[in-house]
Amino acid sequence: VIHFAESILRWYDQYQRLLPWRALPGKSANPYHVLLSEIMLQQTTVATVKDYFYRFTTQWPTVESLARADLHQIYHVWQGLGYYSRARNLHLCAQLLVKEYGGKIPEDPHKLIKLPGIGPYTSAAVAAIAFNQPSIPVDGNIIRVIARYHGIMTPLPQLKGEIEQWAHQQVVPKRSGDFAQALMDLGAMICRPHNPLCLDCPVHGTCQIYQNGDPKQIPAKATKKPKPIKMGTVFVYSNEKGQVQLRQRPKKGLLANLYEFPGTTWEVAQPLRINEAVLSNNFIKHTFTHFHLYLIVTTRVQPHLVDETCFWVWPDELSHYALPTLMKKVWLKALASHK
Ligand code: ADE
Repeated sequence: VIHFAESILRWYDQYQRLLPWRALPGKSANPYHVLLSEIMLQQTTVATVKDYFYRFTTQWPTVESLARADLHQIYHVWQGLGYYSRARNLHLCAQLLVKEYGGKIPEDPHKLIKLPGIGPYTSAAVAAIAFNQPSIPVDGNIIRVIARYHGIMTPLPQLKGEIEQWAHQQVVPKRSGDFAQALMDLGAMICRPHNPLCLDCPVHGTCQIYQNGDPKQIPAKATKKPKPIKMGTVFVYSNEKGQVQLRQRPKKGLLANLYEFPGTTWEVAQPLRINEAVLSNNFIKHTFTHFHLYLIVTTRVQPHLVDETCFWVWPDELSHYALPTLMKKVWLKALASHK
């Protein structure tokens, strides 16, 4: 373990990426910069984050200024980074830091994790990088580096838990912030997902997968079970005036609050029924995270509302309603079947 950390740190001292939130050698990092960058990096690449980081720190150079900022202005500068709940939580986080900690970011990961938008990864990252606390943040890069080094063939997502366990059991090197960032940089530059540069890696001599296998085998792919197929019928009903029926989906669950053409519930289908639908040609296919859906599209002129939640809409007003992609496909199918 000593050998591993020492080799990685020596490599980092020579090859680390120059990133705007990192301290110069011998200097300590600005905790606000570390916190801000780690929140931005949660779902976004280093390359994209750099510009946003500059804009944020120019406009709001301190936790206090960010806490006082107008949320809409924050959203505006955040535009393009995606996952906007991060921007909202960041604002709440800054306000809480001012209220409860006098604008100072706490060093203890157990305090950090209670702040809005900060989970196990970010709390460990900020504690280590800003304050040299002995914690190891487990992100995708670190999972890959450690799993390959130890030859752990467990597939994702279970692998993440195993690496988190590994992280808890480590005696973390004194330079814990550098150690964490060294693993991140190694993962990004050398121990890359597709074309790892093993010959340039400082620890290939003791790397289990390099010595005994192919690095690309890790992280192992889970044998994923096939998605079930569901089926239903959707009614694109219009009245004599040419309006169509629409309704709003429930507040919770799949496609929450979005609008839809009314229809039956979607049930797991027998293969025979799928053939019927395919032969009839009046169906659309759509894939969700957890199932495939075949929807038979029926169109007809019909003056009654299917249920009391339905209402009539002019076709050229459909664009005013938030229709999911699925329902856009249904509408296009309905139009095509009229020709
Ligand atoms: N990804 C997330 N945080 C990072 C950091 N501090 N350095 C490099 N890559 C990162």
